[in-house]
Amino acid sequence: MKFFIDTANLDQIKEAQNLGILDGVTTNPSLMAKEGIHGEDRVRQHYVDICEIVDGDVSAEVISTDFEGIVTEGESLAALHEQIVVKVPMIKEGVKAIKYFSDKGIRTNCTLIFSAGQALLAAKAGASYISPFLGRLDDISTDGLNLIEEIRTIYDNYLFDTEILAASIRHPMHIIDCAKIGADIMTGPLSAITALLNHPLTDIGLEKFLADHAKNK
Ligand code: G3P
Repeated sequence: MKFFIDTANLDQIKEAQNLGILDGVTTNPSLMAKEGIHGEDRVRQHYVDICEIVDGDVSAEVISTDFEGIVTEGESLAALHEQIVVKVPMIKEGVKAIKYFSDKGIRTNCTLIFSAGQALLAAKAGASYISPFLGRLDDISTDGLNLIEEIRTIYDNYLFDTEILAASIRHPMHIIDCAKIGADIMTGPLSAITALLNHPLTDIGLEKFLADHAKNK
């Protein structure tokens, strides 16, 4: 399972990269705004800065919602750095643009996936990744993990190459459940990733090992 971090915060990206487990980064306009990154030039430079920290793919989201706009913006983002993957919303114009990008060899991440039908369409159009939003479905009392499971079955039935990038991860159990289902990638906050480190018996065990070692000095 690949681990992506879902943030535009450079310090957190560096921390995950230094941990040695980071395979990529996802961003979205809300995450860029949260870091105070405004204006086209600053946003573009920030994507390059992220690419220079991480070894893997970096999703950069388009703002346009019409086919021509998505294509122009996506081509410009893809030209920024070889690690950039163009993030395109699951709308009709977005599906058309994903097919266009796929034919041109530009990689895409189809975002805002909330149903198996949307995931099927995105794969048919040739999306490299799809991002089902697990946490946002859970937020409205709908089983987000069930959606990931449905998409896994559909993609396996037809051997689609599109990778399932489980997004809107909120806590470590989301990561573990997605791994059990077979999501190809998870993208989540640093807090959910580092929470995987923790177990009280590890802390107790280490404390005892160190105490016993000290006794033998
Ligand atoms: O980047 C897309 C997705 O991960 C958003 O997550 O927490 O805003 O629902 P969240």
